[in-house]
Amino acid sequence: MGFMITTDGSSYEDVKKDQAERLRLIMKEKNATGKRTREPRVITISSGKGGVGKTNIAINLAIAFSEIGKKVVVMDADLGLANVNVILGIIPKYNLYHVLKGQKRLHEIIIDTPYGIQIIAGASGFAQLADLDEEERAAFVQELKELAYADIIIIDTGAGVSQNVLTFVRSADDAIIVTTPEPTAITDAYGIIKTISAEINGPNIKLVVNRVKSHMEGKKVAERVITIAGQFLNIKVDNLGFIFEDVSVQKSVVKQDPFIKSSPNSKASQSIKHLMTRLANIEYREAGGFSRFLKGLFGGKSGI
Ligand SMILES: Nc1ncnc2c1ncn2[C@@H]1O[C@H](COP(=O)(O)OP(=O)(O)OP(=O)(O)O)[C@@H](O)[C@H]1O
Ligand SMILES: [Mg+2]
Repeated sequence: MGFMITTDGSSYEDVKKDQAERLRLIMKEKNATGKRTREPRVITISSGKGGVGKTNIAINLAIAFSEIGKKVVVMDADLGLANVNVILGIIPKYNLYHVLKGQKRLHEIIIDTPYGIQIIAGASGFAQLADLDEEERAAFVQELKELAYADIIIIDTGAGVSQNVLTFVRSADDAIIVTTPEPTAITDAYGIIKTISAEINGPNIKLVVNRVKSHMEGKKVAERVITIAGQFLNIKVDNLGFIFEDVSVQKSVVKQDPFIKSSPNSKASQSIKHLMTRLANIEYREAGGFSRFLKGLFGGKSGI
């Protein structure tokens, strides 16, 4: 049967179907003449434990979406340790810090990349969004409104469940939680799922298991997390799929060239395309979208 590339335990036929579906999405996009009818979809990428692959997933998923014609902005909301730009080998002059401090407008710091996506660099060393005063919060939300032209906004939140992370996750459309099969990563993933699930009217929570060595491993880990979340938290976590352990990921990080571009046929790239297709096919809630996201930032305390 050759090379298996499914990420959610589906069969080889499913993968074929998936590829056809991807083509269909591209065609649909190309044929689209009309006006935008929707607000940007906001997808956050988080994890309990650090170093599980969030930033790589955020960037490569964004590029996969841009390849079907979507306008995608990746925002590095890891305010302590910005790294989206590092993975892309881009040295930004200004970052979110300057916007948060009111020194720059958002459009002045958005960076076009050669990969078809735009990025907003994180605010290295910025402590707490909660420390912003009322006026600064309102100004920040106002700036973010500029992103309304995007189809998809992917936010790399950094690891853990700080208030900064929750600020972005609580009002997103989809909250992707990344784990690896490592027990500590699984426990921490459960922890962050628990915290997010406590948010009233929170996002849809979707699990991605990264760095799996087999289908079976990916399936087992996902089932474990989803079953426990269902039993103990009474919340539904969707299984978005898994990503294979793949040396092309490390290589691409060293080369500062996203793997979906440098090794488009690698197992990791196929996994990402599979995730993208699943996300593109999942209807997300209509209510609110981006406006709802902006209102929910700061727990509705942004003054707008
Ligand atoms: N599927 C994979 N196969 C092989 N290696 C991987 C894979 N995913 C991630 N890695 C390795 O893990 C490292 C960390 O990935 P990444 O920086 O995306 O994690 P992160 O969750 O964003 O980390 P942080 O919490 O520090 O922001 C990568 O540099 C790469 O070496
Ligand atoms: Mg990261």
